[in-house]
Amino acid sequence: MTAFKTLDDLGDLTGKVALVRVDLNVPMSDGDVTDDTRIRAFKPTVDELSSKGAKVLLLGHFGRPKGEKNSTMSLSMVTGEVEEVLGREVMFIPEIAGDIVSQSLGIMRDGEVGILENSRFWPGEEANDVDFAKAIAANGDLYVNDAFSAAHRAHATTEGLAHLLPAYAGRAMEAELKALSIALDNPVHPVAAVVGGAKVSSKLDVLQHLVTKVDHLIIGGGMANTFLAARGVDVGKSLCEHDLTGTAEAIMDKADESGCTVHLPYDVVVAKEFKANTPSRTVNVHEVEADDMILDLGSAAAESLGDVLKNCRTLVWNGPLGAFETPPFDEATVALAKTAAALTQDGSLTSVAGGGDTVAALAHAGVTKDFSYISTAGGAFLEWMKGKDLPGVAALRG
Ligand code: 3PG
Repeated sequence: MTAFKTLDDLGDLTGKVALVRVDLNVPMSDGDVTDDTRIRAFKPTVDELSSKGAKVLLLGHFGRPKGEKNSTMSLSMVTGEVEEVLGREVMFIPEIAGDIVSQSLGIMRDGEVGILENSRFWPGEEANDVDFAKAIAANGDLYVNDAFSAAHRAHATTEGLAHLLPAYAGRAMEAELKALSIALDNPVHPVAAVVGGAKVSSKLDVLQHLVTKVDHLIIGGGMANTFLAARGVDVGKSLCEHDLTGTAEAIMDKADESGCTVHLPYDVVVAKEFKANTPSRTVNVHEVEADDMILDLGSAAAESLGDVLKNCRTLVWNGPLGAFETPPFDEATVALAKTAAALTQDGSLTSVAGGGDTVAALAHAGVTKDFSYISTAGGAFLEWMKGKDLPGVAALRG
């Protein structure tokens, strides 16, 4: 944590230009930002730099335009929402480097804020091209990275710039790293991890790493079916990666060697078809019929997992336990989320969650404010759960 500089290391910035990498990859529908969480996250950093007198230029990406300009992904679309959240006027600058940027800076007054165009409109961004990064750096005096959620990308604006200008972690980045470090680097044991989601294949490295770090690994979602199949359970028509049962077994063996208990459900909710409010039954995993689909954990499993959490001091959560977007298959996720939230509020559990689906599931359970920390990062959160050093974070350490 202390290995990199933060805004505390900055004095008066009058006359200086701060290039601030933020995450503007926000959900949009019909031209409107539908969730401004990522924008609200960087407000403290912008306010602080601005009050120190800096001209603040925001850098960010939107979508995957693959190195070409694409008007449907211009950051001009999010400028209005940024103005609203920041409560101030923001100048949109349709370039990322060169004269247009320097001329715009000539018009901006100290403390004002601008947004540069989508960094991924230029191929140098994803290639982490040093000349591209130098051209951006030419208009700045310092670099602040406040986008943990993009820090798993070694791109020019997430990594390259940190080597060219004095580099600092923004307030959101600092808070994120602190919370994550409490959860996995130096956690209070016993530690539980909940890993859910559809496929084992998308989280293999996460599972392999977690079994060496945590005391209890709770597996839910479609991936639990692959583990159940590895234990000889007939999962019927359920989503299951039958070709990965050997890998699931190897993960369970590694867990045994490391003293990590893997929790799989012993009762599950099944239905004949996957649609909202379709008839469903709760059965023992050995009673799943050939034409059944497992769509959630059963209530007995959810309750016993709640008991596991009662004996834990730290929780890391990624991925829902069931098909939570389709009722009634949200019940186990909601029940366990509520237990975790109550334990956190009682002070017995430190709870950290992350990933797009997870944030949506916890919001659905109404517990977003009751967890210790909820990360808005998707891919970056998973990389961190694998134990990887993220390039954007490593670069801040110099
Ligand atoms: C995210 O939305 O998770 C980040 O902004 C990273 O986006 P990417 O997966 O397109 O790199």
